[in-house]
Amino acid sequence: MMNANLHRRIRRASGISRSAAIFALVLSGLAAGCGSGKAPAFGTESESTPPADTIGERLFLDTRFSQYFATHMTAVNDPLSVGDPVVSTVETGNGTLPGPFAGQSINCRSCHFVTEFQGVPHAGNRTYADFTTRSPIPRAMGTFDHTPRNSMQMVGSLQPHAGATFLHFDGEFVTPESLVAATMTGRNFGWDPTQYNQAVAHIARVVREDDGSSQLAAERTNGLSYGTLMLGTDRRITSDLLLPPSQRLDVKTATDQQIVDEIAMMVSTYMRDLLFSQDEFGRYIGSPYDNFLRVNHLPVQPLAGETKADYNKRLFNEVTALKNPIYITANDGSFRYHDQAYQFGPQELAGLIVFLKVGTANGGDDQHAGNCAACHQAPDFTDFLFHNTGVSQDEYDNVHGAGAFANLHIPTQAERTANFDQYMPASSAHPNAVEAFRHAASASNSGLADLGLWNIYMNPDKPDPQIALGAVVCSTGRDCSVDRGLASTIAQFKTPTLRDLEDSAPYFHNGTRNKFEDVVAFYILSSQLAHNGALRHAPPEFANMHLTQDDIAALAAFLKSLTEDYDDA
Ligand code: HEC
Ligand code: HEC
Repeated sequence: MMNANLHRRIRRASGISRSAAIFALVLSGLAAGCGSGKAPAFGTESESTPPADTIGERLFLDTRFSQYFATHMTAVNDPLSVGDPVVSTVETGNGTLPGPFAGQSINCRSCHFVTEFQGVPHAGNRTYADFTTRSPIPRAMGTFDHTPRNSMQMVGSLQPHAGATFLHFDGEFVTPESLVAATMTGRNFGWDPTQYNQAVAHIARVVREDDGSSQLAAERTNGLSYGTLMLGTDRRITSDLLLPPSQRLDVKTATDQQIVDEIAMMVSTYMRDLLFSQDEFGRYIGSPYDNFLRVNHLPVQPLAGETKADYNKRLFNEVTALKNPIYITANDGSFRYHDQAYQFGPQELAGLIVFLKVGTANGGDDQHAGNCAACHQAPDFTDFLFHNTGVSQDEYDNVHGAGAFANLHIPTQAERTANFDQYMPASSAHPNAVEAFRHAASASNSGLADLGLWNIYMNPDKPDPQIALGAVVCSTGRDCSVDRGLASTIAQFKTPTLRDLEDSAPYFHNGTRNKFEDVVAFYILSSQLAHNGALRHAPPEFANMHLTQDDIAALAAFLKSLTEDYDDA
């Protein structure tokens, strides 16, 4: 299973060949739309995949950077005699599956799968997510034996866009490099907050002592060691693995921290290439939805200088004005990895209209308005920002009773800073902090909840994202007079993309929803709470959301039409 994914390519170049019929339609659409009938030319893998990407993937898969490996290894290149139990099986909503890394210890891929479970019932391809609500971690720390949140999909996380890139649901990171370094030296790899220096020393040791003898090294980097690859001078290094001089590092003389930074650079290069299928102009091409837009000559992305909000409005106007829509049917293509028709028909179209429609603020008889695109802006289906849709309140009230979240005491900046350990996430400066507000709700402790962005914003232990977060929290029109707007961040989470969600269920930061129908039903209830003044810190966008039960099937069909065959190959 693990070896099914030997070679990968940049996503931009793929996706079209699988449905030649669609390709022909696409080309005719392009020809009519912009006067260019020429097929886009795509580079080959060796031209387009930088060496740091390929080496980065090996690092992403390497199972030797964890605390378990550090404490159980005999030597860096020897296999473990007993693997970490955390990777022996994989949790799913329907029991467990055999772990692809059984006998080893945790790596990035253990929570961010791709093709490991291709064709396996109740599993299948993933967009770098796992199958469970919260992922098991190698060793219990404080009250955590699982990650506080659902492992989100990673495809498209680094999709280029205007404005800052925020990573994790709470915006803890603004660069992938800082995320990689923190993850490899943190709880997900079994390291506790007091072990940062130990973690860095171990990770550097693995890189320095690696001799390239592993099966992984044979498959990904021609059996060359990390040290050889990073030095970049050995004649055996083929051009696809030869780092440019600016990226080379002599691991014999480099500091431990420099080695960790080198790893972070390479894994980040790898992650930047994990994108949904796009053509050379950055236009999405993989899903039935994308093909529907093209064959109907609907705008697929904003014009130069057009805001995303204006583009979404224009798309709505053009979609509703469509006289004779050309539908996408099973004749136009098929899915390899999904047991469903490749289609965009009348129901999907109805769902798209509900999705884009902005209801009037007072509601009335103005129904079938999802206002979803206020936050999930096409074509990325995210605004890359934070909102409170009520998921944390929903979880908390399910455990403690309706109305309980409204009464939860949430401290001011002064109060939480004075009682850091009681309220804030653990860090090396505060190893004993209990992380009470980045936690699943619990029947035995009503002080636990997940307040999302609130944990990071103005948190002195997280200096990196503060400038970018400040610009978002205190953007034009927001009231920042008290605590620089801290209260407005309560229970806000990063807006996920909606592309290819079938490959990253379950949904929401807590994984509480398994199906699209459940998600839409949640929005009906949560927007209703907001209209009744019963959603704490409700998002203003919910005033323009007016859904009925009749909208569930159409919106679910539309979300399904954003599916594509992601396989990283
Ligand atoms: C134990 C499971 C686990 C491991 C191991 C793990 N992750 Fe994650 N990952 C998660 C979870 C859970 C989240 C969501 C975190 C949150 O929002 O609090 C996440 C989020 C992310 C994101 C953010 C995506 C986005 O759009 O914001 C990236 C990128 C990522 N992980 C990369 C990595 C890398 C690189 C590694 C290896 C160094 C790694 N992960 C190891 C569980 C894991
Ligand atoms: C106010 C902004 C906002 C609006 C409006 C909104 N969403 Fe969301 N959506 C979010 C945020 C933020 C999340 C993540 C919430 C969480 O995990 O706590 C999310 C999560 C989701 C998810 C789960 C994705 C995943 O990977 O887990 C789906 C599906 C979804 N929204 C669909 C919709 C639909 C359909 C509508 C319209 C009916 C809609 N959203 C309206 C902001 C919004």
